[in-house]
Amino acid sequence: MEIIPQKIEDYAEAHTTRPSVLLEKLLRETYRRTEIPQMAVGTVEGKFLKMLVQISGARRVLEIGTFTGYSALSMAEGLAEEGELVTCDINEKTSALAKKFWSESPQGRKIKSILGPALETLPRLTGLFDLVFIDADKENYLAYWEASLPKLRRGGLIVVDNVLWGGSVLRPKLKDELSIARFNEAVARDPRVEVVMLTVRDGITLARKK
Ligand SMILES: C[S@@+](CC[C@H](N)C(=O)[O-])C[C@H]1O[C@@H](n2cnc3c(N)ncnc32)[C@H](O)[C@@H]1O
Repeated sequence: MEIIPQKIEDYAEAHTTRPSVLLEKLLRETYRRTEIPQMAVGTVEGKFLKMLVQISGARRVLEIGTFTGYSALSMAEGLAEEGELVTCDINEKTSALAKKFWSESPQGRKIKSILGPALETLPRLTGLFDLVFIDADKENYLAYWEASLPKLRRGGLIVVDNVLWGGSVLRPKLKDELSIARFNEAVARDPRVEVVMLTVRDGITLARKK
């Protein structure tokens, strides 16, 4: 199901400030070199994430799901000079590509990439984060939520991508559809956070820890 008509998506993108030259190159290369380039958040959501980092004044960001590094670099561009972004992924090849792009930007030194299953990486991370972005395998969304919420400071934000999963959440049947639908139910009832679900792109949940 098409959630937002493509013409409206294009209109929104045309009326969004252009990303940096490097982000544009990163996206072009992602489309040239990877099989599912649509996994990258792209121009509008990338800018949205950068603005969330800037508006919230986040200094320490955790990302679950690096891919070729578009969202990580977008958020790093919004971080203060001394800010840090930790991002994890299991895919060696796309993580290497991400690192290659980041190395071309002065913002890249803010990013630390950790290779391995996120559920093994998260318990090893110390200290609190100001913002967490969840964008990895859908069946583990709830596990990522539970593992990252204790690592978020009070007043911090969790941002979750693909929460509408192409509209399939209305009638979930397949494994990932059911996982996302169950995740959305659990998050809406979670007393530890205040939540707003946005119909941007494939659906983005913003949750603020109380
Ligand atoms: C939708 S993509 C992330 C897109 C990225 N945020 C961006 O905007 O470019 C999802 C990523 O999750 C990673 N992933 C899948 N299972 C994972 C796991 N168990 N632990 C960590 N990362 C995982 C995949 O390798 C993939 O790169």
